[in-house]
Amino acid sequence: MRLGGAGTIHGTVTAAADAHRPVRLHRLTWAGDDVRLFELRATDGAPLPSWEAGAHIELELGNGLARPYSLLPSGRADTYRVAIKRAADSTGGTRWLFTRGQVGALLTVSAPRNTFPLQEGPAVLVGGGIGITPLVSMAAALEGRGERSWRLHYAVARRDQAALLDELARHGDRVRLHVDAEAGSLLDLRRIVAESPPDARLYACGPNPMLAALEQAAVAAGRDRATIAVERFDPVADAATGGGYTVVLARSGTRLWVPPGTTILGALRKAGLSTQTICERGACGVCEVAVLEGTPDHRDAVLSPEEQEDGTAMMICCSGSLTPELVLDL
Ligand code: FES
Repeated sequence: MRLGGAGTIHGTVTAAADAHRPVRLHRLTWAGDDVRLFELRATDGAPLPSWEAGAHIELELGNGLARPYSLLPSGRADTYRVAIKRAADSTGGTRWLFTRGQVGALLTVSAPRNTFPLQEGPAVLVGGGIGITPLVSMAAALEGRGERSWRLHYAVARRDQAALLDELARHGDRVRLHVDAEAGSLLDLRRIVAESPPDARLYACGPNPMLAALEQAAVAAGRDRATIAVERFDPVADAATGGGYTVVLARSGTRLWVPPGTTILGALRKAGLSTQTICERGACGVCEVAVLEGTPDHRDAVLSPEEQEDGTAMMICCSGSLTPELVLDL
């Protein structure tokens, strides 16, 4: 399923970077067991670019890594706020933030991007684990615009895993916390779908099995897929890094060899080219490119099975090629 506003073929390759801003790690607090709130303030005190509920920033870390994180309301124009979960197997960006990300650290953020936008009208929000973060912003936006019909269902395995509860408390009984260990069962997604107003859009963010189950429940109940928006933080498949094929950039005629161990995006970057990305794991749709010749090896969660079969578009951050040559509209 396409996420939010994804659906255009982007396909712009440039040598220039997107507008980024320096920020300082202003405050660190805990928002639940293993979840930390990072408050990032503009170094020059000027307002940071505005954003809407569901948006991400990409946070560039001091170790050369960049990671996307959902924005939380901060109450200040010069401040972004993100919540990040530490896991036992945290690697890369998350580990760096928890071990080296001290107050005063200088970081860089991208302009906000939104592939999970909140539409007008009734809404039912479903969050699992740290997937609650974009939904906290959506809940605040729904409350702010006076939306009468909305609910938030928040599922965690254990109560001590629930984050941001103090921020959700102000929404009263619109927010329902489900603790698997206490209920003895997983969140009943079929019931949530059945009880949702027919005109409500469903917004969900969480682990892949929860999102798949919600989509199945919604489709089984006769809902149009277009009324369900999901945001993934887990890849649905490993990236295609087998390499051994050539990518032709049709607009310039440039031919790029993609060696084993890298993706098309990696090969572009190695050649000094860049294109827009956010998640870099096949979840957001921002790197979508039209395929003019060849057969992609799809690894994303953005295109529907029919679109993947059609083969006229692909996500170059994670998908590869099943043919020796792939001609892209780049
Ligand atoms: S950057 Fe998100 S799908 Fe490729």
